[in-house]
Amino acid sequence: MDPAALIPVPDAIPVHWGWLQFFLHLTLFCHILLMNVTVGTACIAMVGYLRGRGASTPCTELVSRTLPFTIAFTVNFGVAPLLFVQALYGHFLYTSSILMAVFWLAVVGLLIAAYALAYVYKNLYARLGRGRPFVVALMVLLLFTVAFFFVNNFTLMQTPSNWSRYFAHPHGLLLNLADPMLVPRFLHFMVGAVAIGGLAIALWFHWRRSRGDQTADHWLRHGCRWFSFATIANVAIGLWFLAALPQGMLRPATTTGWLFLLCLAIGGMLAVAAVLFGLANRVLPALACTLATLALMLWARGLLRAALLSPWFSMEQLPLTPAATPLFFFLFMLAAGLTLIASMLHFTFRSWAGREELP
Ligand code: HEM
Repeated sequence: MDPAALIPVPDAIPVHWGWLQFFLHLTLFCHILLMNVTVGTACIAMVGYLRGRGASTPCTELVSRTLPFTIAFTVNFGVAPLLFVQALYGHFLYTSSILMAVFWLAVVGLLIAAYALAYVYKNLYARLGRGRPFVVALMVLLLFTVAFFFVNNFTLMQTPSNWSRYFAHPHGLLLNLADPMLVPRFLHFMVGAVAIGGLAIALWFHWRRSRGDQTADHWLRHGCRWFSFATIANVAIGLWFLAALPQGMLRPATTTGWLFLLCLAIGGMLAVAAVLFGLANRVLPALACTLATLALMLWARGLLRAALLSPWFSMEQLPLTPAATPLFFFLFMLAAGLTLIASMLHFTFRSWAGREELP
């Protein structure tokens, strides 16, 4: 069967697709950064327990207190890119979501369970004792499963040639397991999360050190080590991912191809610089290089999607029915929401600083 026959007709968009693409990248950057802090810090706490036979440390205590915040922010910052990606690629994403509907709907329950465990871990931290590693390990497992389903859906949507498998498996239980990009892509996201989780821990203890905490230096170096070694491992996984891309898909002769390679080249160099800063325990320069690398890698991810979908679709095919009001309304709400979040964070940090306590 011709897979093109399975692609629905796209809905009209209200403004030029460039606007939607720009806001998709901007909001996805925030979502992935927060997801990395959530998944990464939870993994580091889990390994900390395994190494320290379940003992509590300033690092595990910090993670227990921040996870309910970071999960909530991750989920909320996932909504905006979901709206933009549906506006641009809804006809692909709705189809892939139906093909794996059981897993896709399960994401809601898995997330609620992970969020509940984050509260158990935070509120019962002292009482859990030896039970802490189990709570954290279960939460990490749930978060990994959510991420795995996300990677499945976002790879399945961009490979319509795999959709006809639905006719052999019409029960909403289709995963994209035959795609050679799936495993390296998933690992690239998860190991990247551990790196950024390490950097977030280093950043927190950098701030504590600046407030005169004598013990902070040890944990700053701990976070930097996690960041540096996970990033080194992720370079190898990134090369595996690159090797798994369809042959000849991204040729430098095409605009998408050379932009993709440019993003990877500059992103790679910045990642090396970030590792060197990380190994030298220089948190702020490592952070600057990492944020730039993440932005470039997410842009490369968008270019890869455009290249994979090019036999089926290009943005110019989206019908345009001009109506700028929804975008202005979104921008107004975004500005209002960000101002509110900034003032809440300012208030929270001021109260922690005043009490000289962890969050
Ligand atoms: C803590 C739970 C979550 C984790 C671990 C997680 C993880 C991920 C990962 C790994 C990706 C990349 C997938 C890929 O490119 O292959 C991703 C993308 C995405 N996530 Fe999340 N996610 C979480 C929650 C959410 C929620 C609740 C939403 C929506 C309300 C959301 C919306 C999105 C969107 C829209 C994208 C991709 C946008 C695009 O392709 O341009 N995420 N997420």
